[in-house]
Amino acid sequence: MSTKAEAATKKGYDVEEIRAQFPILKELVHGKPLVYFDNAATSQKPRRVIKAESAYYATINANVHRGVHALSTKATEAQEAARETIRKHINAKRAHEIIFTSGTTASINLAATSLGQLLLKKGDEVVISGMEHHSNIVPWQLACERHGATLKVIPITDSGEWDLRQVPFSDKTRILAISHVSNTLGTINPVKKLIAQAKKKGIVTVVDGAQAVPHLKIDVQDLGCDLYAFSGHKAYGPTGTGVLYGREDLLNQMPPWQGGGEMIDVVTFEKTTYAKLPFKFEAGTPHIAGIIGLGEAFRWMQDYDLSAMAAYEHTLLEHATKELLTIEGLRIIGTAKEKVGVISLVIDGVHHYDLGTLLDQQGIAVRTGHHCTQPLMEHFGVSGTTRASFACFNTIAEVDAMVAGVKKGVKMLR
Ligand SMILES: Cc1ncc(COP(=O)(O)O)c(C=O)c1O
Repeated sequence: MSTKAEAATKKGYDVEEIRAQFPILKELVHGKPLVYFDNAATSQKPRRVIKAESAYYATINANVHRGVHALSTKATEAQEAARETIRKHINAKRAHEIIFTSGTTASINLAATSLGQLLLKKGDEVVISGMEHHSNIVPWQLACERHGATLKVIPITDSGEWDLRQVPFSDKTRILAISHVSNTLGTINPVKKLIAQAKKKGIVTVVDGAQAVPHLKIDVQDLGCDLYAFSGHKAYGPTGTGVLYGREDLLNQMPPWQGGGEMIDVVTFEKTTYAKLPFKFEAGTPHIAGIIGLGEAFRWMQDYDLSAMAAYEHTLLEHATKELLTIEGLRIIGTAKEKVGVISLVIDGVHHYDLGTLLDQQGIAVRTGHHCTQPLMEHFGVSGTTRASFACFNTIAEVDAMVAGVKKGVKMLR
């Protein structure tokens, strides 16, 4: 057993106690117990989160920040409590540095649109990396197109890590936008190190934390980033929720990206002035129930020792990697030293879609395809992979079921 595995065991990680909190894990799929290994796409939800969301509708449903009546006050308090929970979870200095969005995609589009307007002019450069999700490529391409800037890419190595010797910073670089953890490879990137380099050059830094928040302890002040984006639904919270953290002084300089109710101070036909943070960036009625559920998801995570959770997930990764590699012709795409529980695999003579379909018939949910990382697929010369992504409620027995399923699939498909 590795030291990480021992640490998890010592802390008395009780996976059965955790599993009991996820109602969906009792479901049968094609008559088989569900093995859910598609957590990087969206995680399952603990009962507490589901209850918190429906309790809002059942008992305090009202719009926020608008009413003098009791229900509106309660809904507002519940929403703002969620903001404070998230502030604490990622160690932001102030609650108004937490902006609610509909997900990572919306958070990065906000960042790219607003920062583009604030910072980019003809000839400037934006640096991303070769392993980005399309959500952290396309918004920057759009911003570059709008302002005449150019997108530059940090190349990646064969193990699926940034090649730090080839970071294309120049005196024209204005923005660095990088993922903390790769959704396809599982690589945990050395974001703190790169942010420090960027900062010395006056480059504004944006981190896509969609795959990091569910697995790692996040401290935005320690990372030193300017903006940090993530989704609620990948971290045990509801779909349609997300966060953009931003440093107060930068957010104050950034122009709003959407106009409407809630984000204004005074509106006349001649001119509008904007509300204070965070409302300047929260136009319209937010997903109140979802935000309340998101707060509950983070309180749920905070009830556990997150490092024990991460260590436990690492045991799943180590076990699955070892067992899968015994299968002839199987190759794991993404072999970085530091990884979360994500395994992307390809097998000679077996199409990822066919393998995914056969696994599904055995009740095992994995994802197949390019995982919204087409340039990364091109780098590795594959059209897609079969991806298993683990969460805190998965077990070694489930990993064994998947390995057996893959072996069976290979026999049938080759
Ligand atoms: C690394 C990464 N960034 C961004 C996204 C987009 O997240 P969402 O679809 O929740 O907006 C994902 C989703 O898979 C992701 O894995």
